[in-house]
Amino acid sequence: MISMPAIGLGTFRLKDQQVIDSVTNGLEVGYRHIDTAQIYGNEAEVGQAIATGKIARKDLFVTTKIWTDNLSKEKLIPSLKESLAKLQLDQVDLTLIHWPAPQDSIAVAHYMEALASARAMGLTRQIGVSNFTIAHLTQAIDAVGAAEIASQQIEIHPFLQNRKVVDFTRSHNIPITAYMPLAYGKVNTDPVLLEIAGRHKVSAAQIALAWSLQQGFSTIPSSTKRANLESNLLAQKIALSTAEMDAIAALDRNERLANPDFAPHWD
Ligand SMILES: NC(=O)c1ccc[n+]([C@@H]2O[C@H](COP(=O)([O-])OP(=O)(O)OC[C@H]3O[C@@H](n4cnc5c(N)ncnc54)[C@H](OP(=O)(O)O)[C@@H]3O)[C@@H](O)[C@H]2O)c1
Repeated sequence: MISMPAIGLGTFRLKDQQVIDSVTNGLEVGYRHIDTAQIYGNEAEVGQAIATGKIARKDLFVTTKIWTDNLSKEKLIPSLKESLAKLQLDQVDLTLIHWPAPQDSIAVAHYMEALASARAMGLTRQIGVSNFTIAHLTQAIDAVGAAEIASQQIEIHPFLQNRKVVDFTRSHNIPITAYMPLAYGKVNTDPVLLEIAGRHKVSAAQIALAWSLQQGFSTIPSSTKRANLESNLLAQKIALSTAEMDAIAALDRNERLANPDFAPHWD
């Protein structure tokens, strides 16, 4: 059993052979943390790639996320069992509530308690949340306690730094995972990131990842290319100066990319 590796492999949008190849390449180049979700429709392929990858289960950290249709007590645990069957695993390392219930039609305490029951049953080693506002996180903490919440996964990249939620989450010592850390590729053309990248002789993507890591976030970039998967892992070796961190901090423009119509009222 390992704790969450700082860089994980995202799998949103990747389907069929593309996700099999991405996870297979990822495991080969050294990823030990895979992020999937029920709604990605790829848990079976992720499971297949993990099974053929032959990394010892104890050396792998696998996260899945409960979709909004499965937040009731009646559905949450059966849906997680279905995810485990697809992933060919007895237990995942982390299960997140993917989004708060649309329009708060189900109380946060209801699904957090169901998720805690799933953990007590051994279906998941840790539990956490994703896309939670301060109000939702407050209710989750009231329901199960901050110490039970192993991660809050939220959109964070240089153009959406999400500081209010980050500060609140940190004030409860809840670890943060930055999703969409490359702003779905937008970081690659930013002049400030490119300038810093040139100085370090790395890519803008690597600088964006280093910026996330240096703030203590774990981060889960995705890529369909083995070379990018490999170079993203190397971001762990980059040390940014205070001036470089400040220059990236100044890029915040509240540019939210993941904003479906059922999203909560953001902080
Ligand atoms: N909890 C949530 O609600 C939520 C929402 C969104 C995402 N996520 C998670 O976060 C993960 C990451 O987000 P994302 O996949 O949407 O976007 P992302 O990781 O920010 O960006 C992926 C894009 O960046 C490109 N890229 C990757 N590495 C690169 C490199 N070294 N150089 C240049 N381009 C590079 C990829 O293209 P190539 O394929 O060509 O490399 C792809 O187009 C998801 O896969 C998912 O697991 C969670």
